Amino acid sequence: MMLDATVVNLNTGSFGPSPRIVFDRVTELRRHLAEEPMDFLLRAMPPLLWRARERLASFVGGDPRRLVFTANVTTAINLVASSLSPASPGEILLTDHEYGAMHWCWERAAQRHGLSLRTFALPILPSSPAEIVDAACAAMTERTRILFFSHVLSPTGMILPARELCAEARRRGIVSVVDGAHAPAFLPLHLNEINADYYGANCHKWLLAPIGSGFLYAAAGALERLQPLQVSWGWRDNRGAMDERDEFGSTPRLRFLEFEGTRDVCAWLSVPTAIDFQAELGWQCIRERIGELTRHVRNRLASVAGLTPHTPDAVDLCGAMVAFQLPPGVDAPTLRRRLWEEYRIEAPIVERPDRLLIRTSTHFYNTESEVDCLADALPHLLAASVRR
Ligand SMILES: Cc1ncc(COP(=O)(O)O)c(C=O)c1O
Repeated sequence: MMLDATVVNLNTGSFGPSPRIVFDRVTELRRHLAEEPMDFLLRAMPPLLWRARERLASFVGGDPRRLVFTANVTTAINLVASSLSPASPGEILLTDHEYGAMHWCWERAAQRHGLSLRTFALPILPSSPAEIVDAACAAMTERTRILFFSHVLSPTGMILPARELCAEARRRGIVSVVDGAHAPAFLPLHLNEINADYYGANCHKWLLAPIGSGFLYAAAGALERLQPLQVSWGWRDNRGAMDERDEFGSTPRLRFLEFEGTRDVCAWLSVPTAIDFQAELGWQCIRERIGELTRHVRNRLASVAGLTPHTPDAVDLCGAMVAFQLPPGVDAPTLRRRLWEEYRIEAPIVERPDRLLIRTSTHFYNTESEVDCLADALPHLLAASVRR
């Protein structure tokens, strides 16, 4: 791993660092692009793009003909939110734990379509996924047009039962849109079983692919309802069968949405290397190691005075991210600054409406001693960060 040895990086949840082999692959591709852009973009890139699409689709349990590469999950969700025009009056329903920028994305969509935006409260420390499904079912009404939720919550790392939630939405005629920002490599994905109408995700977090690799996956028939964010050469490219592989490494239907003019897609093309890297280490080994580390996080941080766990510990509700509630009176900007300036620790301080959290991410390359650094630093940091 290309990690700065002077930093305690407990934040793969924000951005995944690069394995050396992935960095070398993306650099090799960018060198070709730099030296001979014509040859790269016209001849070398299309078969690599199709191979990346097939490899990623098989990794996430989907069909390559329904996988649109995007720069990130933000683009994927915007593509959906700006395309759908649900019947008004009605509402877009979100959980109260959505990523801020995605909440805004739906706020704008609601304004544009004359819909209301409503959030429902998730149970904080549920003991089973059924409690989450119950909360969502109680919140859905005949006015609900779209249900949007994160597969893995950004503030706490809690895993939501995506398949059950999408099935409940479908049963009510509600379009399901899932933010899977953290999901690839955080948990085993079977997108065809989840069967969301739309599922966006990032490869540049837990999968450790280069920054700029995300995707949108759609249920059968759902891509047809989308419009591209940028009109480019895919717009009228309907010469062949819409879902047959074309000479560009896509299909006419995918290229309609995916091709945004000239740009660097080397991050997408390096996704297979990122998948191979962790597959060779062994997913089972990686999950076991992450399990050891998160147990260590829970033990060590729970022993810090004033910290209380804020992520459930049932196996189907949690993974490699754990959040703790901080004691009242702590000033978030001060704590953030001191954590970095005095200890060079990367771990986000999350501001929830009614409380402050600290979230740890532990991937296989983290160590117990890094977790200990944070646990040892926190008593001093919390005392020094109290609002005066
Ligand atoms: C749940 C969730 N959604 C969306 C995003 C946005 O990701 P990106 O900036 O890669 O699009 C993040 C980033 O941390 C996230 O945690």
